[in-house]
Amino acid sequence: MSDVADRTALVTGANSGIGFEAAAQLAEAGWGRVVLACRTDEKGQAARALLSSRVGRDPFSVLAMDTAEVSSANAASDRLRKDGLHVDLLLLNAGATGARAQFNSDGVEITWASTLVGHHVMTMRLLDDGLLRPGARIIIAGSEGARGTVPGMNVHDVEEVASEQFNGDRVAAIEALARIEGPYSFNSTNEYVSSKVLVAWWAAALARRLPPGITVNAVSPGSAPGSNFGRNLSLLQRLLMMPFMKIVGPFLGMAGSIETAASRYLVAADLGDDETGHFYATAHRKKLVGAVGIQTWPDYFLDEVSQEAGFEAVERLTGTAFPAEFSAAASA
Ligand SMILES: NC(=O)c1ccc[n+]([C@@H]2O[C@H](COP(=O)([O-])OP(=O)(O)OC[C@H]3O[C@@H](n4cnc5c(N)ncnc54)[C@H](OP(=O)(O)O)[C@@H]3O)[C@@H](O)[C@H]2O)c1
Repeated sequence: MSDVADRTALVTGANSGIGFEAAAQLAEAGWGRVVLACRTDEKGQAARALLSSRVGRDPFSVLAMDTAEVSSANAASDRLRKDGLHVDLLLLNAGATGARAQFNSDGVEITWASTLVGHHVMTMRLLDDGLLRPGARIIIAGSEGARGTVPGMNVHDVEEVASEQFNGDRVAAIEALARIEGPYSFNSTNEYVSSKVLVAWWAAALARRLPPGITVNAVSPGSAPGSNFGRNLSLLQRLLMMPFMKIVGPFLGMAGSIETAASRYLVAADLGDDETGHFYATAHRKKLVGAVGIQTWPDYFLDEVSQEAGFEAVERLTGTAFPAEFSAAASA
């Protein structure tokens, strides 16, 4: 791999919480260029000022991108192509949830959209435009919640939804869930953890399609209640759960620092070419922080049918397919 000073990272959601900290740590580790992909230019410039003051140099640039919108991800990708910016680390960190259902302009619920829509589109565009350097690493933010073991956070059973409502068609089931269509009502935490299952499936399926040397992994930063993520939760959760997590969580292995959370991304960025298609999260099944391992449970993470259905569903939700030239190379 190239010298770190020659490397470029692009971090989404870089103006807040774990993304901000990851951008700082990358610059402190000597990365030559760190692109702060933020919802607006103003947010990005404010983050850039804070980051350059902390780091003592300014390898940062700003890219405006709403990760919930196809058009915004395409516009940001056009900008990268125009600038001829080649990326070594694509850190797809942004994500949000909300106390009530909101939808992007294509009818995809915001929790699912902010996590996967723009991230998928930008990844496909960078591949198509030849802007991912050989040896590039793609990391997308996962969550321990996707394991379905956190009380009050229930993962949608895609296989069951498919068989009960869609004649076994899992792609249609995932699409309906992400649009909150059919007999399903919105539940913010359930949408959140289910969208993170889709993140793991997307990474696994994408890994099978990528050219050799470029890897993709889903990585949970682990629980970090000190970030701003709690602002999107319901009033009850903000009043009860967040203070509990901040005060008691560290003693129970349920909460850690933003610094440690961000460092999980940097560790994953250094994994070798063979480490791809995995979901990395806290190894201990009942904890949300601590040593990290590849998640092999519950079984649904490793289910190739669901992984492929998940990827196809994201292609349909975004109207953006994996670039044909790579598909042809993979099947040749
Ligand atoms: N904190 C935890 O305990 C925890 C645990 C597991 C996984 N995670 C994951 O870690 C990632 C970072 O979360 P965080 O805890 O650092 O929360 P945060 O402080 O709220 O940061 C989230 C970032 O994502 C950005 N974002 C959300 N929706 C966006 C959109 N539509 N377009 C552009 N940017 C958007 C936010 O931008 P704005 O400021 O403009 O909203 C913000 O910069 C998320 O994917 C989250 O699911 C967090």
